[in-house]
Parts: sequence; structure tokens; C-alpha cells
Amino acid sequence: MNHRSWMRSQGFTSEVFDGRPVIGIATTWSELAPCNVHLHRVAESVKRGVWQAGGFPLEFPAMALGETLLRPTAMLYRNLLAMEAEELIRANPLDGVVLLSGCDKTTPGLLMAASSVGLPAIMVTGGPKLNGKYQGTDVGSGTAVWRWEEDLLAGRMTQEECAFAEGCMSRSDGHCMTMGTASTMASMAEALGMQLPYSASWPAVDSRRYETAQRAGQVIVDLVEHDVTPDKIMTRQAFENAIRVNAAIGGSTNAVVHLLAIAGRLGVPLELDDFDTLIRDVPTLVNLQPSGKYLMEDFCYAGGLPAVMRELGGLLHRDALTVTRKTVGENVKDAPCWNRDVIMPFGQPFQAAGTGTAVLRGNLAPDGAVIKQSAASPHLLKHRGRALVFDSPEAYHQVAADPDLEVDEDSVLIIRYCGPKGYPGMPETANVPLPAKLLKRGVRDIVRICDGRMSGTAYGTVVLHVAPEAAAGGPLALVRTGDWITLDVPARALLLDVPDEELAARRAAWTPPPRTATRGWTWLYTEHVQQANTGCDLDFLTGASGHQVGRESH
Ligand code: FES
Repeated sequence: MNHRSWMRSQGFTSEVFDGRPVIGIATTWSELAPCNVHLHRVAESVKRGVWQAGGFPLEFPAMALGETLLRPTAMLYRNLLAMEAEELIRANPLDGVVLLSGCDKTTPGLLMAASSVGLPAIMVTGGPKLNGKYQGTDVGSGTAVWRWEEDLLAGRMTQEECAFAEGCMSRSDGHCMTMGTASTMASMAEALGMQLPYSASWPAVDSRRYETAQRAGQVIVDLVEHDVTPDKIMTRQAFENAIRVNAAIGGSTNAVVHLLAIAGRLGVPLELDDFDTLIRDVPTLVNLQPSGKYLMEDFCYAGGLPAVMRELGGLLHRDALTVTRKTVGENVKDAPCWNRDVIMPFGQPFQAAGTGTAVLRGNLAPDGAVIKQSAASPHLLKHRGRALVFDSPEAYHQVAADPDLEVDEDSVLIIRYCGPKGYPGMPETANVPLPAKLLKRGVRDIVRICDGRMSGTAYGTVVLHVAPEAAAGGPLALVRTGDWITLDVPARALLLDVPDEELAARRAAWTPPPRTATRGWTWLYTEHVQQANTGCDLDFLTGASGHQVGRESH
């Protein structure tokens, strides 16, 4: 009576307590997360579907992580969202959950949470914005900003033009409409089988987004009735599918840390090297910014992810189960493609097989680093140059405009202490703009190396996720300006050309940076966060505890 009576204050009739499945709708809506601001409307459509299927929907808030406003980086809070949502899903009397996400970290955060609880779950991402339109051309969120920033620094664009352009870029609800991290992770959720086919690409304002949400409401009731839990969908096969799809769509390098973290919750064996070995025979099929030309709206009209997955044929595990309770193969077997310039045929790909994410190793990154080859300049993929080292992005920004900066097109720009512990939170600082001196000379790319991440909307020859990070005592901390560095992507090598004895002497003289926090979440995070090569989850959050409160049921 207690439970029912208090719920009756919302005006529910007594029939809702007749034993029908109670479906939680975890929404990351917030005005502080503009990419997710329409999710309360999406939730209404989900509720329609749940009612239709005979369930009882109850919407609840989960931490909204807006990529553009949160300091120092939304990534610092991905695990906090995952922890909060996990506890909310477990502690409330739910039978299943619908996960509403959009902006970059909300999708992996909610998938991590659902994985650790193990109740039936389905994801509905909020969808991309409509294409940006500026001066008669399509402009992609994020990607255009990086270019305009460089144009501004080089004097090719005025402040007034930039201010006008920014409104043209963001002209509807939705997340970034390039193949940035949000579009990538929405695609990963679909490739993993955790959201309905086509769900990743319907624009946020398209009526079919809401149709799909209503359908998801029906589907979650079905998943509860058949006890289809996330571990039955997100298997090793599903992760292999997702990794290959990520290569085919030219997806963000951020998918590496997020997929590793989700797999860690499920106990699925997945390693950094899988992201290299599994994609060597996968061409990039999708011609989307930042690597290509088009945007998510075009991708949707061209046939969306099912068209890509159909094109990948036998490279995918077609018998992997999805939330439709059908297999990947059944879902995509008839998926049409309507525009071969956006989604290219396997035999005539946008970029050849093996040009996706590469995993590098060497004495500068013993536990690995990654580079997005499709966003890099081909002439820099084999490169030897002298290091120009900065201990923070801020230190670099202070001198980036200096016309006398000792830098040339062969320099290797190192931005360090940007890893999970270092900054903290592993921000997207790797793709710093080029020094103004080089931009003015027409140089558009140099090799950059960082223990942080790069925005999925960015481009350039940028080595990321160097592990161990500098703040954890990785060799990146020992590099000095003027050292020779060799990047050899075909050989998967990242080398610091300094003798071992010299490195040992430098290590003996190295002192770790002071703690960034002594209390609160940031302290907990820096004490327990793991390195990029295992997904940056907190060590005590990996694995699952089941849905029983007070005891672990797995
Ligand atoms: Fe939210 Fe790009 S800022 S998706």
C-alpha cells in the first residue's frame, strides 16, 4: 500500500499495479546539455509505446553530460553517470529500462550502467542535428569550428563572421551531426544490437525519431517478457561487429575507450589491439565529416547504418542477437542504399581497408596509443621529427601565436599531462590548433602526440591515448624539446630516439605532478581511474553486480 499510495499522487489508476512490467526511462535531458534538450519529448514517445505494449513507464533523470559546457571535460563524469544510473536502475523497482542519450558521454555512460545491472534494456539516442548551413555550404558541428578557429588565427575570417557562422552551424535540436563521438556512439549502440535499426541516424527533429522511440517503448516490454538482458546482446561477437562498423563509418577514436569500458562491465574479453587487428580488412565506406564530405542527415537519407552493415556482408557476425530479438543479419538483409556517394560500395570504398584506427606501440607508448589514419595526412604517417614539448594545453596556447616560436612543419608537438589522472579526465586536447607561424605559411597539419583524447569531429595527424599517461609516470613524461621522435604507422611504432640510460636518468629525476584534488569526485576519480588502454573506467566499477539490492546476483 505504501508503494502504491505514494505513486497514486501522480494520478495513476490502480490498474498500473496489476503486475505489468515497470519500465524505467532514464533520461539525460538538461538545458545544460543542449544536445539532449529534446529528450523529454522523446521520453513521451517511449511512454506511448510502453503503455501500448502493456507496460507501466516511469521516467527518471540521470546525470546529463553536455560536452561543450562541462569543465574540465565531460569525460571526467562519464563514470559518475554510469555509477549514478546503475544505482538508480537497481535501487528502484524496475523490470526493464529505456536509456535516452545523445551527447558523447551519455551513450557509453548509460550502456555501462545497464551492463552492470543486467536488467533488460534498450537505448534510444536523441539523433543528430540537421546539417549546418553557412554561405551556401553544409557545415558540420565541431569540424567547422576547428577550421574556423584556424581561419581566425590565420586572419582568413573575422570575429563577426565567426559569430554569425556559429548560429548557422547549430540550427536544430540534436547532437553533433558529423561522424563525431555522439554519432559514432549512437552507431555503436545500434551495431552492438542495443538500439533499433536506423535509430542512430534519424535526425533529432525527424518524426521517425519519435516513431522509433515509440517502437522502443513496445520493444522493451517484449524484452522484459522474454528476459533478454544486455549480456545476451552485447557479446564478444557484438563488440567485434561494433569495432568493424566503427571502421566502416570512419568513427571516432573515442569509441575505443568507451567500448573497452562497456565490455569491462560485461566481462567480455576485449583488448586495445582488437581495434587494430579486427579492422585491417575493413574499408571506410561512409563519406562523412570529419574524414569526408557529408553529414548525418545525408547519411540517414542514404540508408543509415543498416545499409553499411549490409554492405559489410560476412565481415560481421550476422547471427548476433539484437533488441529486435532478431539477428543482425535478419535486421539488415534488405537494407537499401539510396546514395552511393555517401555510403560507398565495399568494392569501391571511400578509403581502402586498413586506414581506420591504428594501435601504436613502442618505448613512448608501452601500453599503446591510437591514431585515426583516415583523419591524418598521408605524408605524415611515416615521420621523424624533433619534439616540441608542453606540459599542458594552456602552456601551448600561451605561445601558439608567437611568431618566433621554434617550430617548423617537421616538428612533433607534444601536449602531455592530459590523461585520465593528469588533467584530470582525459580531455579532448590532443588536436590543438597549429602554431600561427605555421598556419600563416599555409601548413595545415603536423604530427601531434598527446595522452589525452581528440574530439571525434576533429582531424589531423594526432597520436592519442598514449598509455601510460605522463601523470602516471609513462615515458611521455620523460620527453624533452629537441628529442627525436619516430612515428611509423604502417609499422605501428611510436618511438622516442633517446638511449635507455638517458631515459633512466631522466626517470630518476622525474617527480609526479601534485594531486589535482584532495576530496570529492575528482579525488575518487584520480585515485581509481584506469588507463586509456583499458577504457578509463574506475577500477572498482568494472564488472557487474546484478539487479538485486544489497547482494550481488551475478
Ligand atoms: Fe554534444 Fe557534440 S557537443 S554531441
